[in-house]
Amino acid sequence: MTSINTSTTVPASEGRTEWWRDAVVYQIYPRSFADADGDGMGDLRGITDRLEHVASLGVDAIWLSPFYTSPQNDGGYDVADHTDVDPRFGTLEDADRLIEVAHSLGLKVIVDVVPNHSSSEHELFQRALAAGPGSPERDLYIFREGRGENGELPPNNWHSIFHGDAWTRVTEADGRPGQWYLHLFDTTQPDWNWDNPAVHALHADILRFWLDRGVDGFRVDVAHGMAKPEGLPDSPVGSDGMAVVPEGEVPVYFDNDGVHEIYREWRKILDEYPGERMMVGEAWIPERSIPKYVAPDEMHQVFNFGFLQARWDTAAMRRAIVEPLRLADQVGAPTTWVLSNHDVIRHATRYGFPPDHRFGEGLSREETPDAELGLRRARAATLLMLALPGSAYLYQGEELGLPEVADIPDELREDPAHKRGGVPGRDGCRVPLPWRADAPGYGFSPTGASWLPQPGSFGLLAADQQAGVEGSTLEMYREALRLRRALKLGAHGASDSVSFSDDAPDGVLIVHHGPVTIVVNTTPDPVTLATLPVDHEATVLLGSAPIEAGCVPGDAAVWLAADGAES
Ligand code: NOJ
Repeated sequence: MTSINTSTTVPASEGRTEWWRDAVVYQIYPRSFADADGDGMGDLRGITDRLEHVASLGVDAIWLSPFYTSPQNDGGYDVADHTDVDPRFGTLEDADRLIEVAHSLGLKVIVDVVPNHSSSEHELFQRALAAGPGSPERDLYIFREGRGENGELPPNNWHSIFHGDAWTRVTEADGRPGQWYLHLFDTTQPDWNWDNPAVHALHADILRFWLDRGVDGFRVDVAHGMAKPEGLPDSPVGSDGMAVVPEGEVPVYFDNDGVHEIYREWRKILDEYPGERMMVGEAWIPERSIPKYVAPDEMHQVFNFGFLQARWDTAAMRRAIVEPLRLADQVGAPTTWVLSNHDVIRHATRYGFPPDHRFGEGLSREETPDAELGLRRARAATLLMLALPGSAYLYQGEELGLPEVADIPDELREDPAHKRGGVPGRDGCRVPLPWRADAPGYGFSPTGASWLPQPGSFGLLAADQQAGVEGSTLEMYREALRLRRALKLGAHGASDSVSFSDDAPDGVLIVHHGPVTIVVNTTPDPVTLATLPVDHEATVLLGSAPIEAGCVPGDAAVWLAADGAES
């Protein structure tokens, strides 16, 4: 048996619970959760009305993707005013009410902050355009002269994450083509210049605005992006002259050390407030960088995307558990686990791509992953995740086993990655949720309207079809979360270790954590518990598929514990 020590726990000082260390956080994507006003776009009142569903799962917190004023060119990640609510989603009063109701249900509230870029409709960007080259207004963003004889070439060779150039040239007041501005994402998302102290001050005010309204934390968008390398050097290029990113690395504009100064600043702001406010970073960084982001004076957590990227393979999964635990442990931070979010192919579909596992750029109509297999494995992976120490992030609809939707007409797709790069994009994981099988729009909105079409398969998966049904994905999540809480499975240091059975047969992962043993059978064939190196007297607490006659079916997982572990 191989153990890894996870016992480095920063002692909670008097009165502090450090609630975020083992919290299960449910991500709400406001456009697609629930629509109260019937326009087909989810809204804050819709969310508030459905918070009991979220609370009934047994999670600790919600994270709300952006609901701020925005032209919605990137689903709200193009913010025109961080301190107001987009009329599509409601009003500031609706946000206050949502926070109040969530708190009354015992749910903490995390909101998104999007500091790498703003919308091009942000008043300050509009002023920068009007003010012209060399002005203090332009210095809030990253404007540069172009290369080439007449400045006709972009200032460097950086590519946008959403495909195409990361630079757009503006037309100056005299009508001539002028400077270029940087946008690591869409043209409508200009990057802020974090070398300018005014940008720091502006964001400090945004944090305070929401902290004053009672939020418990922030999910920091593109947390590895704000600090650009000195002189904006070109990316390395391959033999074809195209920019390349070496395997395991990130583009030159990500993961620069300057971001850490920002988080130290923000941590001080959070710590001024009572109630243990926290930050979790969305940072697609090489694993080795994790400890820097979660140092005691920076972020509380970063998403551990290695787990999400791991294939359905015992060695890959084991590595994706061991490494982040070891790295976060170096600085006394908890790790996080996540399988789905609004940017990746839903895990119920992802695991249906044997043998390869693909998570980015969406699902095309031509691809036909095995839906049944995908869901079986997704349920098993979820059980594995929810038994691990640290904090877990769930994405709305995964508790219903929702698949990625491939069948969205191109003209209805909104993802800028689709529009710029022709890839299917991320709309397939953002389709509005089914609440009731027999209602128009499956209960998403009172009128049946839905900003993206819902597939027929959503009927059987609707929340009302699964509630109270033994073995449904919804009830499996509820039971797993109940047991996780009762057995304190999220706690770091509660058991001191996660360990693996090295003598497990091929294709079977056996993980021991605290009072539970998790058996994940990645093979298509059943395995008999009696043949495995586990406690044969142990009780089956929960299975991702029915566990009959001591057999773990193929592509399934089970939690085992000694009798009485729950008491
Ligand atoms: C990450 C967000 O999760 C994604 O949805 C968005 O498109 C980019 N950051 C840009 O803000």
